[in-house]
Amino acid sequence: MTRFITHFESAIDGTVFPADQLQTWHAKRPLWSRYDLDQIRQAVTPEIIASRPANMWRYRELLPIGDEIEPISLDEAMTPMVNCPRFARSLNLQHVFVKDESRLATCSFKARGLSLALTMARHFGVRRVAMASNGNAGGAMAIYAARGDMDAFVLVPKNTPITNIAECVQSGAVIYYGNGLIDECGRLIREGHDRKLWFDISTMKEPYRLEGKKTMGLELAEQFQWELPDVILYPTGGGTALIAMWKAFQELRELGWLKSSKMPRMISVQSTGCPPLVLAYEKGERFVTRFENTQTIASGLRVPQGIGDFMVLDAVRESCGMVIAADESQLFAWQKMLASHEGVMVCPETSTCIGALVELAGRGEIKSTDKVVIFNTAAGQKYMDYFRPDLPELDLSQFDWATVESRLKRPAYDF
Ligand SMILES: Cc1ncc(COP(=O)(O)O)c(C=O)c1O
Repeated sequence: MTRFITHFESAIDGTVFPADQLQTWHAKRPLWSRYDLDQIRQAVTPEIIASRPANMWRYRELLPIGDEIEPISLDEAMTPMVNCPRFARSLNLQHVFVKDESRLATCSFKARGLSLALTMARHFGVRRVAMASNGNAGGAMAIYAARGDMDAFVLVPKNTPITNIAECVQSGAVIYYGNGLIDECGRLIREGHDRKLWFDISTMKEPYRLEGKKTMGLELAEQFQWELPDVILYPTGGGTALIAMWKAFQELRELGWLKSSKMPRMISVQSTGCPPLVLAYEKGERFVTRFENTQTIASGLRVPQGIGDFMVLDAVRESCGMVIAADESQLFAWQKMLASHEGVMVCPETSTCIGALVELAGRGEIKSTDKVVIFNTAAGQKYMDYFRPDLPELDLSQFDWATVESRLKRPAYDF
């Protein structure tokens, strides 16, 4: 096998770029990776893929890496599709699954994109990578840079979760707080890129991360025996994974690997604290207007204006999906709702999807028989900066059993 990638193509104007050189963006907009799907169809089948180790590299033919390049890897094992029947029943739904990306290295889905992006960058001779990040991506870049013996430079807005800062600091990255939002940090990172201080890995500013995230869609299809679900809910900042999954589904359809032509409705979810895509979607527009006052504890969704905005909105519209905002003030309540029903502790970003599902199921926009997949993009445990539980304190020497018992909901034993 060789590499099946043929070229890159500008998503905004179709300009073509060669696959055998390190690429970034064009006209300040992202590039698509394009493959020879006929050759891939001859080279590999779903049966061959099923026989390979259960990690994202089993889809090598559909990635720019082919089999010539050794990945910078921390395994990137397939993530579980967790069935959530009790939660589903509470919403009068029958099939709700959480694809739990928190099981990846760095406890977030960012591992997939950064593993591949750094692999490709190193392959083309890059030794220092840099990124403007709201946290998880910067942390994953720093961790994978350490793994690949590369240097990392990270610039984060000031209220970035401390867990992500620790990931960067402890893996040896150079990191600064910036007194602005991610897009403002991004301008500086780009300037450093133009000065050749580093290679810019920021969201959608190079084409490889998107391809790594495509494995979320490939894996999901394989886990459902190549039949896609009815609805996918995805918490959206820059929208990389939503765009990537939609691309994965188109490629699978063209390869003829899908059992039916039915495509899922892609539901992009934001917080009311930062809903630029929702506003553009509701106005019927293809590009967002910068959202000036972002206020959300879901740090990954603090994206006032993503450069792949039109790609998210195109995918959502093509899929007959929607973009919807969930109430910022309810994020911990929704996190609790899923954790207490199913033991799955989603990140605040994904809590928006729980809220959206509650609303859409209530409005009848999601049918009880629909197969629904929610992406948990990171571990809820990564976000304790804002968690302030109202816990009563117990005096251990003379506590009152009646008070304790009054808080216990069910008998301890069945007999
Ligand atoms: C946990 C989490 N979920 C969702 C997102 C949004 O990802 P994207 O920018 O690809 O839409 C991020 C981005 O930082 C994130 O960290």
